[in-house]
Amino acid sequence: MAINMKGKDLISIADLSIEEVYQIFDVAKTLKEENYTGKPHRVLEGKTLGMIFAKPSTRTRISFEVGIYQLGGMGLYFNQNDLQIGKSENIHDTAKVLSRYLSGIMIRTFSHQDVIDLAKYASIPVINGLTDLLHPCQVLTDLFTVLEKKRELRGLKLAYIGDGNNMAHSLLNGCTKVGMNISIASPSGYKPQQDIVDGALANAKYMGSKVEIIDDPVAAVKDADIVYTDVWASMGQEKEAQDRKAKFASYQVNPELVKNAKEDYIFMHCLPAHRGDEVVDEVCDSANSVIFDEAENRMHVQKAVMALVM
Ligand code: CP
Ligand code: NVA
Repeated sequence: MAINMKGKDLISIADLSIEEVYQIFDVAKTLKEENYTGKPHRVLEGKTLGMIFAKPSTRTRISFEVGIYQLGGMGLYFNQNDLQIGKSENIHDTAKVLSRYLSGIMIRTFSHQDVIDLAKYASIPVINGLTDLLHPCQVLTDLFTVLEKKRELRGLKLAYIGDGNNMAHSLLNGCTKVGMNISIASPSGYKPQQDIVDGALANAKYMGSKVEIIDDPVAAVKDADIVYTDVWASMGQEKEAQDRKAKFASYQVNPELVKNAKEDYIFMHCLPAHRGDEVVDEVCDSANSVIFDEAENRMHVQKAVMALVM
């Protein structure tokens, strides 16, 4: 039976039930097939998505904008600096005003609390397009991509090598939600946030899966079905890039490291990739890499989210 998700925000995968996650995947699969066969699906005819960006974006912006267009609606791009929000107008008033014009808001910004507040005061759905804490649209897409490639999720092992950042956090939320095992290897001082790890441990206990937060990338990648990495310095941390390069040097995903994974492992990266740092060309461009399918799927999965909540 279909679950009514109309009006729901997407701030964190932790807020979704496992049934809602699989419903998003089902709708995404249908929309992707229809996209390939050219069958129109203008289910959001006349609706408008406002897209607020305080950080740069290639995939998120374009996949949302093309996605809402294909659903019969329209996307409006706003650079957060061009809006009154956070300068001469508070989040409360901005949320109330935007709710009078738009059918939904997608926001990419620094502070996760700002997105929570925007959703609290807005009467329309708010979709998190990345904060310093989480990147739920990316990880929903990643799980959908794993499902396409591996035909199942439960029991698979994902190894995440690198910074305990927004990607690590959403992967902890997402993998444990669907019963996958997750092993994260990060240098000390760059581990994922403890409250997120605790939530993942609780999910894993419920689903009978494993969560491992360790130092050793080789141990993390051992027998992994999926090897995942992300940049060492995220957007907003550019000043730390040099310092991080030294600290993360032994966390590079290269042919030597991936030898420890299962033979049919898949390599994933949310992109943009800093080739030569966290990953090298030989892995990125190998037959095991699914990074461009993953990027494409952003659009299909986000269309599903929009179709369900708007
Ligand atoms: N993966 C991702 O969110 O990419 P962009 O920063 O290009 O949107
Ligand atoms: N951790 C990265 C993800 C980019 C999609 C960042 O926040 O910059």
